[in-house]
Amino acid sequence: MKDTSEDSLLMPEAEESGLIKTLNSMGTMTPSPDAFSRAFIEFAPKAPGRSLDIGAAYGVATLPALRSGASVIANDIDERHLKILFNRVPVEHRARLELAVGEFPDGVNFPAGSLGAVLICRVMHFLDGPQIERAAAKVMNWLTPGGKVFVVGETPFIGTAKAFFPTYEARLKAGHPWPGVVENAAAHDPKRADSLPKLFHLLDERTLGRVFNAAGFGIERLELFARPEYPADIRLDGRESVGLIAVKV
Ligand SMILES: C[S@@+](CC[C@H](N)C(=O)[O-])C[C@H]1O[C@@H](n2cnc3c(N)ncnc32)[C@H](O)[C@@H]1O
Repeated sequence: MKDTSEDSLLMPEAEESGLIKTLNSMGTMTPSPDAFSRAFIEFAPKAPGRSLDIGAAYGVATLPALRSGASVIANDIDERHLKILFNRVPVEHRARLELAVGEFPDGVNFPAGSLGAVLICRVMHFLDGPQIERAAAKVMNWLTPGGKVFVVGETPFIGTAKAFFPTYEARLKAGHPWPGVVENAAAHDPKRADSLPKLFHLLDERTLGRVFNAAGFGIERLELFARPEYPADIRLDGRESVGLIAVKV
């Protein structure tokens, strides 16, 4: 990655909730890893290949994975995030870190069978249905047998999606393949309109499970989980996020 004046870039200050805004209006980074990211961090040092953190932002999962001894490729669509991440990594861990700027899934490539673990945390909700299918297929190709993918996304069960919920339910009833696609995220969350892209893809266990099953993964864990750390208007009833762990057999 080239040296630019962005060497002096600093991570934005955390909001009251602890969430840290991205520089490219793609939501926020959480202050600490959730249970599924922690499972990635634990698995990464013993994974059968290098680990990849997609949409790493400022390193909420990459930094502890490096600390746990893993070799990590940190990916993000925004090079500035990766610059900040790099500056946050202790010098003694930098030899095990590679930075890979690019848009997942279509603008990012790795050799087949070269990775042992992949984390996709709070990034899938920026992808439409066909992109999510291509994402699962690419990760399947990149992983070596025994490698695992860890996915986390927001669900339709968040406070700010209440107005969207009837659409989600109607689509579910009609057998829509992507019931959680919110075409105009700003309309549902005007407070965060300036920090979110237009499309927001809320995911549930059925959708995520179907896609990763179809890509050939063995699903080890798939569940909704609570986000007590989220701001009050986003929290709902303990089903705010969905997590998946799946293995390439
Ligand atoms: C909501 S933040 C999540 C950050 C962190 N993974 C977390 O769990 O808190 C999304 C991050 O993914 C990046 N991103 C969004 N779309 C991406 C894509 N298609 N490919 C790679 N990175 C992407 C954004 O720049 C941002 O840093």
